Amino acid sequence: MRRVLPLLLLLTLCGAVWAQETLPQPAPCAPTDGAVWTAPNPQFAPELAKGKHYDLVTVQCTSCHSAAYITMQPPMPTAAWAGIVTKMVDTYGAPIDPARQAKIVEYLSQHYTPETIKRAPVPAVGPPPIPLPPGSGSRLYGQNCGGCHQDDGSGSQAFYPPLKTHAANLLKVPGGCTYLAYVVLFGLGGQFQLNGQTYAGAMPPMGSQLSDNEIAAILNFVATAWGNDKRLPKGFRKYTATEIGVARQAGLSASDVMIERAKMSIQH
Ligand code: HEC
Ligand code: HEC
Repeated sequence: MRRVLPLLLLLTLCGAVWAQETLPQPAPCAPTDGAVWTAPNPQFAPELAKGKHYDLVTVQCTSCHSAAYITMQPPMPTAAWAGIVTKMVDTYGAPIDPARQAKIVEYLSQHYTPETIKRAPVPAVGPPPIPLPPGSGSRLYGQNCGGCHQDDGSGSQAFYPPLKTHAANLLKVPGGCTYLAYVVLFGLGGQFQLNGQTYAGAMPPMGSQLSDNEIAAILNFVATAWGNDKRLPKGFRKYTATEIGVARQAGLSASDVMIERAKMSIQH
């Protein structure tokens, strides 16, 4: 079980056909994504808060996914945490008996509710998700991307690849969903061909200036703007801040991201 489950989680980040069948998941971002999703190790965990039942929680709650799934949640009331723990057991099959479930809820309640959370232990992975006002994706795109890729996503020949149509095409390729997150987080360096054009520029990494939530909002805007919404793969599901947080832990360089690009079969 323990060897299979981390893989299962990786597959569910952007959704694999297999994971879709195995777990009651929301429709995935790109249905075949799991096929090439190999790079990051989600066990680079931002530390769980130390305290009573810490060892128990570490053993029981980080076998399938990193502790970031807990530490990066917005603080929740105890009842909501109890619901999460029940979901891990009932829906995802975590083998935790009721007595230990109660201890885990007690731990979560002591560290991760709005009243008890300490901000300090939420480390280097960007601020915790704070809901953004509607329209933020478009605004943030304009501020952070439009200068190069243009406000209408058309890019500029020979320098900046287009995101209109092309971003939706990327989302259809296995691995594309995660790849888009990597590009924004870690940048892109090196050379590639697209529709007969060679791009040999460099995109700056933006992971340190944009939160997970902001990146999710930008990518959801890019995925649906300029008619891209009509080209998305069937069952496309919006990016969440949690997914960006997990991708962030891959800690890639801009040239690593180009290696990820080369692994995918991008036609146009
Ligand atoms: C058997 C594997 C497994 C174990 C063990 C497990 N989880 Fe999960 N957990 C999952 C899966 C699968 C998801 C959904 C991942 C996704 O959608 O990206 C998830 C998601 C989450 C989330 C994100 C919110 C949500 O509702 O999807 C939180 C928080 C979470 N787990 C907390 C915990 C805690 C606390 C424990 C320990 C009691 C735990 N997990 C143990 C499999 C597991
Ligand atoms: C300073 C200019 C610049 C900014 C700002 C910028 N990009 Fe880029 N972007 C580039 C360049 C240049 C490339 C191509 C890199 C190369 O040739 O290696 C690129 C590549 C990409 C790709 C990959 C396309 C492919 O086919 O692989 C995506 C997706 C992308 N950018 C999205 C964004 C988003 C979203 C933002 C805003 C968060 C953004 N970019 C901000 C210059 C920029």
